[in-house]
Amino acid sequence: MRKTLEQPVAEERSPTVPSRVAFRQHPLHPIIVVYPVTALSLLLPADALFLWTGNGFWATAAWWLNVLGLGSGLLAAVLGMADMFLIPLARRHVSVWSHFVAGVMLLALAAMGVWLRAPDHAAVWPWALLQSSFTLLMVLVVGWLGGTLTFGHGIGVYGHCPGEDSADAADEALDE
Ligand code: HEM
Repeated sequence: MRKTLEQPVAEERSPTVPSRVAFRQHPLHPIIVVYPVTALSLLLPADALFLWTGNGFWATAAWWLNVLGLGSGLLAAVLGMADMFLIPLARRHVSVWSHFVAGVMLLALAAMGVWLRAPDHAAVWPWALLQSSFTLLMVLVVGWLGGTLTFGHGIGVYGHCPGEDSADAADEALDE
């Protein structure tokens, strides 16, 4: 049984970097990304349901999902870029650059969707359907790379402050 609730993770095994754009150390970018991830992931199912059922509700739903995805995605990108440029260590990871490029590509696709759908929400076949398909693919890529930053490199993670943790203490806790 462990005697304390302190995390038994050695500092040098788990180097983490707290976010600079955070509320009480909780990074704002991951809080906001749930909106573009959800809205842009539901775009393809909404398009498919419209083409399958012919019910205009789904075309209108896809339009608003696309608008919400673009708006919240732009906000997320601003917050993410702030962390990227304010954390020098983050910029040394290739994944931050690939996540950034993929994020810009995703937002370009979302902007294209708004442009395609604005004149007629029901004009889904074929270009808007192609757009929502690539958008879903890019959401997966961007989300995966973002997860690599957080869970792989500890970017935006707080809790392992230098001096509070040590390899010996962690090993002892693990042994107990
Ligand atoms: C385009 C500019 C972007 C930059 C520079 C950027 C940067 C970052 C950074 C530095 C992190 C690590 C956590 C933090 O410090 O906040 C992160 C995590 C993440 N990003 Fe981005 N990001 C961008 C856009 C996006 C977009 C548009 C999405 C989704 C639609 C997204 C999804 C994620 C996800 C899912 C994570 C992991 C969050 C978690 O672990 O809970 N990012 N991003």
